[in-house]
Amino acid sequence: MNIYQFFRPLIFKIEPEKAHNLALNYLKFLPKFSALLSAPKNYENLNNSVWNLNFSNPIGMSAGFDKNAEIIMPLFNFGFGFVEAGTTTPIPQTGNEQPRIFRLIEDRAVINRLGFNNLGANYFYDNLSKINKTSSQIIGVNIGKNKDTIDSSADYILLLEKFYNHADYITINISSPNTKNLRDIQNENLLNDFLQKIAKHKIDLQKISNKNTPILLKIAPDLEYEQQKNIAKIVLDNAIDGVIISNTTIERNINLKSSKSVEIGGLSGKPLFEKSTEVLRNFYRLTDGKIPLIGVGGISNANDAYAKIKNGASLVQIYSAFIYQGFGLVEDIKKQLSENLKKDGFKNISEAIGCSVK
Ligand SMILES: Cc1cc2nc3c(=O)[nH]c(=O)nc-3n(C[C@H](O)[C@H](O)[C@H](O)COP(=O)(O)O)c2cc1C
Repeated sequence: MNIYQFFRPLIFKIEPEKAHNLALNYLKFLPKFSALLSAPKNYENLNNSVWNLNFSNPIGMSAGFDKNAEIIMPLFNFGFGFVEAGTTTPIPQTGNEQPRIFRLIEDRAVINRLGFNNLGANYFYDNLSKINKTSSQIIGVNIGKNKDTIDSSADYILLLEKFYNHADYITINISSPNTKNLRDIQNENLLNDFLQKIAKHKIDLQKISNKNTPILLKIAPDLEYEQQKNIAKIVLDNAIDGVIISNTTIERNINLKSSKSVEIGGLSGKPLFEKSTEVLRNFYRLTDGKIPLIGVGGISNANDAYAKIKNGASLVQIYSAFIYQGFGLVEDIKKQLSENLKKDGFKNISEAIGCSVK
């Protein structure tokens, strides 16, 4: 039992959003403290270059934990290879009414209906600009639209321009279930138009800045196979650099035990693992392994992370498992994953990517 697990019964007495804000404030105001709790190790067989970025390990903090880029550096102290902050929107917004985060303890899951609550892109930008990091501390910026924006692509293009020079990669989030009509952008006719605009802007930004910032698309797990096929084609046609699979699910028909499972919102954690891994595997096939994929959804140990990698993920991300296990999990996964690779005869993680799919 680690220190987090010891205190967990106490933490779980606090309402989930309050507990989250407590953790956030603790890391914000005592940033050096996280360094005392953890001593990140480097495992050479986990080092990998993706999009010409040097990832020291494939474990990332998933979007939503640090919505305003306030604790990126303290998070790196826990041993992450990369941190994705956001979702940030052009204008600050308060999100949905509270309570809006629920722990499904028996299912090791979470339901949230936050609705992109954040302090806006200017605040995010100021925080990001102050960061002094090394080249192997990779930062992703996850962008979204404001609730009341009608022309969605205008919001995304504004944020693309704002963060293009300041992010290691940018994620276009069109898969949150808590912003009305957002996920409709994933439909074939809308998506092609939308990504064409994004791609055109990227070419312009690349010319002006001489920098090639990878643009990733984050998708929902609730997509029919035909939709997955269309999205994969549109992504390749528009030279999108990668796909994050997946966001939370709106499905509930997955043997949930907790009485909280009736809450509206996106479900994450253990019950999402199978579904999101299946979509990941499909995308690896559908894109012929041509673009890097980030596997996320229900990872709670090294075997889960390894399964995502073997099913086509170049990198993985985690959120819900930290609520149940604390951030010590990052180092546990790195250590075990490094051993798993050796045991299976892989010299480096890059050799294992997609090996179960081929
Ligand atoms: C409380 C909470 C807030 C989240 N907020 C965001 C967000 O703002 N943007 C986003 O792209 N994903 C968000 N997510 C989704 C996660 O990034 C991740 O895709 C999902 O939770 C699946 O991973 P997990 O099973 O490891 O939690 C959020 C998830 C949770 C639990």
